[in-house]
Amino acid sequence: MQNTRYPITAASQLHRVVQNTVMSAPPFPTRAEAASPPPMQDALQRPLHDLRISLLDRCNFRCPYCMPESEFHADYEFLKRPERLTHDEILTVARVATGLGVTKLRLTGGEPLLDRKLPALVRRLAELPGVEDLAMTTNAMLLAPAAQELADAGLHRVTISLDSLDEAVFARMSGGRGDLGTVLDGIEAAARAGMTPIKINVVVQRGVNDHTVLDLLERFRGTSHIVRLIEFMDVGNRNGWRLEQVVPSAELKQRIEARWPLLAVGRNYPGEVARRYRYADGKGEIGFISSVTRPFCGSCSRARLSADGVLYTCLFATHGTDLREPLRNGADDEELGIILSRIWLQRADRYSELRRADVAEMHHFSKVEMYRIGG
Ligand code: GTP
Ligand code: 5AD
Ligand code: SF4
Ligand code: SF4
Repeated sequence: MQNTRYPITAASQLHRVVQNTVMSAPPFPTRAEAASPPPMQDALQRPLHDLRISLLDRCNFRCPYCMPESEFHADYEFLKRPERLTHDEILTVARVATGLGVTKLRLTGGEPLLDRKLPALVRRLAELPGVEDLAMTTNAMLLAPAAQELADAGLHRVTISLDSLDEAVFARMSGGRGDLGTVLDGIEAAARAGMTPIKINVVVQRGVNDHTVLDLLERFRGTSHIVRLIEFMDVGNRNGWRLEQVVPSAELKQRIEARWPLLAVGRNYPGEVARRYRYADGKGEIGFISSVTRPFCGSCSRARLSADGVLYTCLFATHGTDLREPLRNGADDEELGIILSRIWLQRADRYSELRRADVAEMHHFSKVEMYRIGG
């Protein structure tokens, strides 16, 4: 679908105009630069590559580290429908973002499958010029019946949040809402529909599920699914995070290697958050996401859009920029492009790197909640 109001060529040049205004750079590009404009970079020379789109703030799980039942109870006020961006508005932001260099879109929530019109949105996003990778993060509870339709609509791949295969641990970590068999059926259905490689994200918490990690790995060894072990992070303000609950990836890797030797594999693409390994016996790949012990802010190319249209430039941001108001006040793609460019060009976030310097102090900030921006 070609956007006539905001041709891609003009879009890709737009950041230069804004950069010149914001950064007082020389006003005219050289001929070589004009032919192939350099990617827009933030204040720490990081390009904008990924846009993570949270479709809604609701979830059918109550993982204690994300949406503890005690706070997200029956009376909790989630966003009302008019407060959420419409699909047209999401599409507009995605189109403008791809015009500025975004090639990867990830749909998140809360739980994106609670959006009943998801396949129609996927179809429109998949048709946007410049979208090379269209993925979704889900808890897979509702995935089995939807998988084929989503694949047909153009969803390339899915990432499943699944913290344990131990029934009791799974129940505890999903807040008593999930059903393990249904989640596993969802994974199977996604694989049958070709949304591969499937990644399985495991948030590892000491004393909660770390003792079940090897069983989970064993289950997926020999399949093409890639399990990624994530260090429990201090996202949001409600998960009672403590450093003692983090199992450093190095420790976990040692435990795994005692059973299955691992070989390091290079990155798939610049800015990949996971460090990749293969089992030495050829039984597949796993990854470690070590945002606490080995932050990766230096190559962070992700922007996050909340369901109510706020753009955040860091998972740990204390504030973002409202795009809903300009969207609803009739801003065209060019105006939105200028807003997005300004945000990105001035971006200097590197929370995880700074966290190492002073953990206690960071906790005084009021950070955006994970369920609003989907991890
Ligand atoms: P692939 O495209 O499959 O490589 O995945 P991805 O890079 O989009 O990663 P995914 O969305 O699966 O992220 C996995 C987890 O890594 C998230 O749930 C977060 O816990 C963590 N994570 C992802 N992006 C960031 C980030 O920018 N900063 C930090 N600190 N953690 C992140
Ligand atoms: N630390 C690390 N990862 C988290 N996620 C949610 N909360 C945390 C946290 N505190 C991840 C879950 C899910 C994704 C949406 O975010 O694994 O896959
Ligand atoms: Fe829902 Fe994912 Fe948060 Fe769990 S981590 S409550 S599945 S959004
Ligand atoms: Fe990116 Fe912020 Fe995560 Fe660092 S802490 S990798 S800047 S999202």
